[in-house]
Amino acid sequence: MSADPPLRTDRFAVCFSGGSGIAYGLRLVEVLLGAGHEVHLAATQAALRVLVHEAGAAIDLARPDLAALFEAALRPRLRVHALDAVEAAPASGSAGLRATIVVPCSMGSLARIAHGFSSNLVERAADVALKEGRPLVVVPRETPLSVVHLENMLALARLGAIVLPAMPGFYHRPQRVEDLVDFVVGKILDRLRVEHPLVRRWQTPASRPSSPWDEGES
Ligand SMILES: Cc1cc2nc3c(=O)[nH]c(=O)nc-3n(C[C@H](O)[C@H](O)[C@H](O)COP(=O)(O)O)c2cc1C
Repeated sequence: MSADPPLRTDRFAVCFSGGSGIAYGLRLVEVLLGAGHEVHLAATQAALRVLVHEAGAAIDLARPDLAALFEAALRPRLRVHALDAVEAAPASGSAGLRATIVVPCSMGSLARIAHGFSSNLVERAADVALKEGRPLVVVPRETPLSVVHLENMLALARLGAIVLPAMPGFYHRPQRVEDLVDFVVGKILDRLRVEHPLVRRWQTPASRPSSPWDEGES
C-alpha cells in the first residue's frame, strides 16, 4: 500500500504593522503553521504596542518574544525576525517565499510600501514581493478613509498588490469575535489559494427568502 502523498507546504512572510486588528495577524500565523507551512514573521514597533493593547500580551518592547505567542508545537516552523534584520529571508527575492502578507496594515506602512520606502524588514518584504511578482496582500484597517489613504490603496492595487481590507461579513452569522477574525483570515487564504477550514462556504439558498417587496408582484 502506498503512503499518503506528502503535504504540500510553502514559506510565507507575515508582517504585523500598527493597525488595529492584531488578532487577524496572530490567527493567520497560527493557521499557516498549523497547516505545516513555514512562516517568517516580523513586526513593527507600533505593532508590538498594539499587541499589548489588544491582546493583553505581556511583551517586553525592548526584547519582544513573538514566538511565545504561539503553541510550542507550532514554533519549529516559525522564524521571527527583528525589524532591522535586512539580511533575513523575506528581504531577498531569492528566498522564494510564496507570498507576503502585511496584516494588519497601518496607513503609515501602507503609504511607505506604496512608495517603495523599504526602510525596515516589513516594508522591504512587501517591496520584494512586488518586484518579484509574488503575491503581496495588505490588510488595511482604518475608518474613515482619507483621500491619501484611498490613493495609496489604489496605487498599491495598480502595482499588483491585493488590497484586502479587514471588513468581516455578517452573512455567516458570527457568534463570537473569533468568527469575525476567521472570516477575514479565510479571505486572505482564499486569495492565496491556500486551503483552510475557517469558514462555511456559501451555498445557494434552497428557497429565496420572502421579502415585503415581493407582495403585489404579478
Ligand atoms: C491601539 C492602537 C490602534 C491603532 N489603530 C490603527 C489603525 O487601525 N489604523 C492605522 O492606520 N493606524 C492605527 N494606529 C496608529 C499606528 O500604529 C501608527 O500610525 C504607527 O505609527 C504605524 O506605524 P507602522 O506603520 O510602523 O506600524 C493605532 C495605534 C494604536 C496604539
